[in-house]
Formats: sequence, C-alpha cells, structure tokens
Amino acid sequence: KTRVGVLISGRGSNMMALVAASRAPDCPYEIVVVASDKPSAAGLAWALSEGIPTFALSPKGIDKPIYEAAMDAALREAGAEVIALAGYMRLLTDWFVSAWRDRIVNIHPSLLPQYKGLDTHARAIDAGDAVAGCSVHVVTEELDGGAVLGQAEVPILEGDDADALAERVLAAEHSLYPRILAEFVTR
Ligand code: GAR
Repeated sequence: KTRVGVLISGRGSNMMALVAASRAPDCPYEIVVVASDKPSAAGLAWALSEGIPTFALSPKGIDKPIYEAAMDAALREAGAEVIALAGYMRLLTDWFVSAWRDRIVNIHPSLLPQYKGLDTHARAIDAGDAVAGCSVHVVTEELDGGAVLGQAEVPILEGDDADALAERVLAAEHSLYPRILAEFVTR
C-alpha cells in the first residue's frame, strides 16, 4: 500500500473520509501520519483517538523554511510517499513542492480552473452559477494550479448561501477524494 501523509488545518472531515476509505482491505493507500500547522485542529484530536500518528507545529514565530523542514522531516519519518492536503490552509514553498514533486495532491472546493483561492462558494453564488463542485489536483508552485485529477459537480439551488452550498460540496468532496487518491497512487 502507498503510504500517505495528510496535512490539515481544521475540522479534518476530508482526512476522516480518507482514513475511512483506507480501511477497506482493497484500498491501495494507508494513512501513516496526520500533520497540522494548527496544534488545536479538531481533526488532530480525532486522528489521535483513532491511533493514527500525528504531528503538529505552529509556524508562528518560526521562519517558514524551518517550519517546513520540520513538516518535511515528520512526513519522511512516518515513511510517507505521497502527501494529501485536506483543508490545509497554508501555501507551500517552492522548496517543499519541489522536494515532493508530483507527490502532493489537494482537494479544492470549486470546479478548477474556476475560483482558485478562498471564498469559492460565495464567488460562485455571486456569479449566478448554476453548478458548483470540487476538484482534486496535483500541487505545483502555482496556487490551485496543478493538473486536475478529478472533479464532482453539485447544483447551486435557489436560496443557497455560502454555508448551504459548502455543505453540499463537502459531501461530494468526501466521496471524490478517496476515489481519486486511490487512482493517483496506482497511476
Ligand atoms: C474543504 O471544503 C476543502 O475543500 C477546503 O477546506 C475545507 C476543509 O474541510 N479546502 C480549501 O479551501 C483549500 N484551499 P475539512 O477540514 O473538513 O476537510
């Protein structure tokens, strides 16, 4: 099985979906570490309670290269071969991306290349779009810019606010990400 490290910053519901999927006997990946830039991330406590190794380091007050070198070391010590970003809300440096070239994937809550960056749901609603969704893509130096590996669409319904749409997209994320990660590690 391919050894996957997951990076989170918060709730961690996509990480939980990856862990749940990884427990199927025929899943081609296992989650070997969950790491976070936010020591208080709810997802970290959950991973710990599930017996999954965790690593947390706040980058506050540390030079970014030092912070990332520590993240990199924790991932390597856990034997990670691939990194799955799951609500990791920090930009990776060019150094980190090139150290893990073509081995980092991310889930983003829009139909890329539309709505890179933040506030994707509000932007889709404000634009009057009929359809929203999520994308799993390879991480490159360009924000939300790497090759798209898979997408899922959901309708935008009348009266949706950003929270309602986010909830519908999140449910789609939870089925898309495990499936695309399985394809990615067996590509
Ligand atoms: C998810 O919707 C994910 O797509 C998004 O944050 C949420 C994290 O939720 N990611 C980004 O916006 C990345 N820029 P989760 O912590 O419950 O998985």
